[in-house]
Amino acid sequence: MPRLGCDYNFEQWPPEVWVEDMALMRRAGVGLVAVNVFGWSELEARPGEYDFTALDRVVELLHEAGIKLNLGTGTASAPPWLTRRHPEVLPVTADGTTRFPGGRQAWCPSSPVFREHALRLVEQVAARYGNHPALDLWHVSNELGCHNALCYCEASAAAFRGWLEQRYGTVEALNKAWGTAFWSQRYAAFDEIQPPRAALSVRNPAQLVDFQRFSSDALLDHYRAEAQVIRRHSAIPITTNFMVTAHIRNQDYWSWAADMDVIANDHYLDHRLPDPVAELSFAADLTRGLAGGRPWMLMETSTGAVNWQPYNLAKEPGQLLRNALTHVARGADAICFFQWRASAQGAEKFHSAMIPHAGADSAVWRDVLELSATLGKLGEVDGTTVAADIALVFSWESWWATDTEARPSQDLRYLDQVHAAYRALRELGVTADIVAPGTDLSRYRAVVVPCLHMVSDQEAAAVTNYVESGGRAVITFYSGIVDPDDRVRLGGYPGAFRELLGVVSEEFAPLLPGASVPLADGGEATLWTERLRLTTATTELAYADGRPAVTRNEFGAGEAWYVSTGLDTPALRDVFERATAHSGAEPAPDTEVVRRGPFVFVINHGSKDIDHPITGHELVTGQTVTGSVTVPGGTVRVVREEA
Ligand code: GLA
Repeated sequence: MPRLGCDYNFEQWPPEVWVEDMALMRRAGVGLVAVNVFGWSELEARPGEYDFTALDRVVELLHEAGIKLNLGTGTASAPPWLTRRHPEVLPVTADGTTRFPGGRQAWCPSSPVFREHALRLVEQVAARYGNHPALDLWHVSNELGCHNALCYCEASAAAFRGWLEQRYGTVEALNKAWGTAFWSQRYAAFDEIQPPRAALSVRNPAQLVDFQRFSSDALLDHYRAEAQVIRRHSAIPITTNFMVTAHIRNQDYWSWAADMDVIANDHYLDHRLPDPVAELSFAADLTRGLAGGRPWMLMETSTGAVNWQPYNLAKEPGQLLRNALTHVARGADAICFFQWRASAQGAEKFHSAMIPHAGADSAVWRDVLELSATLGKLGEVDGTTVAADIALVFSWESWWATDTEARPSQDLRYLDQVHAAYRALRELGVTADIVAPGTDLSRYRAVVVPCLHMVSDQEAAAVTNYVESGGRAVITFYSGIVDPDDRVRLGGYPGAFRELLGVVSEEFAPLLPGASVPLADGGEATLWTERLRLTTATTELAYADGRPAVTRNEFGAGEAWYVSTGLDTPALRDVFERATAHSGAEPAPDTEVVRRGPFVFVINHGSKDIDHPITGHELVTGQTVTGSVTVPGGTVRVVREEA
């Protein structure tokens, strides 16, 4: 069955509770438990003095209960003695302010002093538990870069210079890449270069992008250093928990994925977004992309409210199950929660858990048992893969380059544009693979390229060649504009895709908030327009005054569509339907239909019952369905389809 798991912060509870917890975990069918994620100050209360008594005991209790270990290296947060003795490990923000201990993750990713101490702990933990029979997975640090991704201290500055020297070789090459002729920024030597600290005006955007790349690499380097120590003692798979989510953008996980033995993600519904449930689906699909299409694990999610949003909403009845099964539908083979037991103290005391403050006589606990029972019925789904025939290209570099300080409109945000495209596809009933720029696209029936602002020649060629040999692509505005040095591609927008799209855009013409431009079909365009000229393309959707808004260009054996304006979801859905030659039926409103192997997940987010046409064996109710399955409002059905 897809595994059920959790974080267990046993350090917060007395030993009597541990024993009770083992019994409850068994009752809930918990099979994998993350321990020692924040254990450092307990394990090494004073420098070099290690005490594993409590961890040993909990590991044995879990083992006796038949529960597997997802073992943290314990380095996520430094103990107070370390930052007191070595304040130089503390991270520094762009304006030069030191971030003090008192929260968590108060360490600079490039600090050699932090690294040395962290690796010493990893050595101890790996040597002690590396061959333990209960050990199933290594959990390096925790959410690397959640708070400390960008550090501007002197150690980071030195590491950044080293990284730049490696990348560019000579300072002349760097000057060229960064366009330092602008505003008298020319460097004579690498040692003149600083991280992009807070400045009086807009900072050099190429420097900003390189600092993002460097910062992502610095944390990956930390991961590798811990993993190397583990490998000397243990052959068990190693991973760390990614944050594929809407509010974290500092790690380019495309470059991290190959280092992970298993891809693991943390995901929480984000009620700051217009459509949190659609974002969950997107994040799950992107995580599957990072896993190269193979099954992955949800390392953390919540049973109810989190504690870090402005308004922390409880889940509606049934929502826990729907959310969890959406992850399973989109490729997860394990569902783990943060955390087992709700903390009574500390910064996260109002974060939900599998056992809430109210205890086991609670609706949340009963929902957990229901989820466990349902996962138990889905054993056959394990290991199967999602087959998608449409790809959506996603790029962290374009995210960084788009959301930079000076841009045509501050309302133009990369992720908004990606989410808009994703939502339109989802409403159409399309399950998309989320792929990296430059991926070979030949196996897809159609490809959607939203806001791929920063694109290399080679990545652009992957789209162009795909269309030339018969593919269908839809590209949305602000794509193809700059090269990887953040240099504008001259000759008219959309730069790298101009010829493929058969258009030239001479000028961006973004709109003020609330403004719109009428479209010929009665709709309205918002946010963005362009002064677009057709070279070889034809108009598919015009503004009311006849100017082109959406175009189509036959190119080689395929065709490429350009969406040059901000369309609402129904309009974008119509464009995608035509451009991708989509023929399937749209799902019922508020319904998500995803196929994984022979299994069709029908997730009814609405309150009304729906009927979905299908024949086969339904796993949740254990019934055979012929012609159609009824999915009651708020529930999920999983049908092994039979022809
Ligand atoms: C992340 C962290 C956990 C916890 C949760 C709260 O996932 O890894 O330690 O803070 O967020 O949502």
